[in-house]
Amino acid sequence: MKDRLIQPDYSFRYEKNEFCVEGISLSKLADRYGSPLYVYSGAAIRESYARLKNALRGLPVQICYAVKANSNLTILELFKKLGAGCDLVSYGEWHRAELAGMPRNLRVLSGVAKTAEEFDRLLRLPNAGVGSIHVESVMEFELIQLLAHYRKKKVTVAFRYNPNVDAKTHDKISTGRRKDKFGLTREEILDLCVNFSHDEFVRIAGLSIHIGSQITKTSPYEKAFGVLRKLCDEVEEHLGRNLDYVDLGGGIGVPYRIQESTISLKEYAALVKKYFYSSNRRMKKILLEPGRSLVANAGVLVSEVVYSKDRPLHRTLILDSGMNDLMRPALYESYHEIVPLKNESSLKPKKWDVVGGICETTDYFARARSLQVEGLPGERIAILSAGAYGFSMSSTYNTRPQLAEVLVDQGKVKLIRKRQTLQDLLRQEK
Ligand code: LLP
Repeated sequence: MKDRLIQPDYSFRYEKNEFCVEGISLSKLADRYGSPLYVYSGAAIRESYARLKNALRGLPVQICYAVKANSNLTILELFKKLGAGCDLVSYGEWHRAELAGMPRNLRVLSGVAKTAEEFDRLLRLPNAGVGSIHVESVMEFELIQLLAHYRKKKVTVAFRYNPNVDAKTHDKISTGRRKDKFGLTREEILDLCVNFSHDEFVRIAGLSIHIGSQITKTSPYEKAFGVLRKLCDEVEEHLGRNLDYVDLGGGIGVPYRIQESTISLKEYAALVKKYFYSSNRRMKKILLEPGRSLVANAGVLVSEVVYSKDRPLHRTLILDSGMNDLMRPALYESYHEIVPLKNESSLKPKKWDVVGGICETTDYFARARSLQVEGLPGERIAILSAGAYGFSMSSTYNTRPQLAEVLVDQGKVKLIRKRQTLQDLLRQEK
């Protein structure tokens, strides 16, 4: 029996040459629920949550899971049970949190384009149905202030600060540089504090940052925490009172390659402590908004070979999934490990371009990847680390229905999203 561990923290591994999740064969799941298929491991989610919590022990931290990473209702319920709050970026995500029963006081609402209509709906609820609204522009603040006065409803806000720090990650997932569209400048924040420190309906409660995603070094965090702490001092001086909280955003990178190094949670926690829970500054509350680090390595995308082209100098493996199901490689040239569901160790590894069925040249999952596969129709593979920004970014491009999602948790297999039918897909069209 071969029991090859793919990643140290993985619930996905070979058992008797079958790639399994928590001991259940992924081939069997694909037989039952069809291919392509997203499969998640509850144990892996619990483990990454516990690891982060443990690293931050002793600090007044509340984890607000970034729902956009994987917004399936059952996954949200799992996070609720673990004690997480959530970071939301649209009314739609707020509604998901509501359906999953996530506590309203542990919700923060971010996003650069929250609309008057969204605010108007939320302002009917006590404290706008959230713990706090994270304001990203002066105009947004003015709108909230106006609506709160009009409806005579109290709201709590925090300012999302753009600290002008380069997160040293992929350009397209960097969010904290001056040229990025996110957040307010120091000057804007201080002006708002001067003008609205005693507003009857709007309470300025905190400051937040989020400098980017898939951050693999601690130095950008250290820089951002440094300027944020300085701004906390200035804001408190302008307000004449202490802030209730800081929110340090998400961004913790995960290993996508076997043995890839990323941020040590211990070092990350030490930085949080140094800047926000030491003798210089002791916050009452610290929020974090991790998404990817809690779910990425807890999910895989199972796919089947439709055809292959085995040419002397160039081999192509054509899958039944595509960039519409998992956009990350096409959008960010991101790397995902690919493994065959049957471990045929006798097969000689060959280099394959692994592609989807979408009519776009960017529809690649991997190029020249060494794989032990034959390239026969029906042969199955798993694309790893697809639990974050996989299904949640999927689309129906090329009129391909969205996939089913399965969660394996504590010995139980649960279909947590039915495969979309063509009829579902076409329902709204006339
Ligand atoms: N908070 C805010 C305000 C965010 O915008 C994000 C992610 C997060 C938290 C969570 O960040 P995380 O811990 O997941 O890095 N689609 C891209 C990632 C985009 C991230 C967008 N914002 C990808 O697949 O790499």
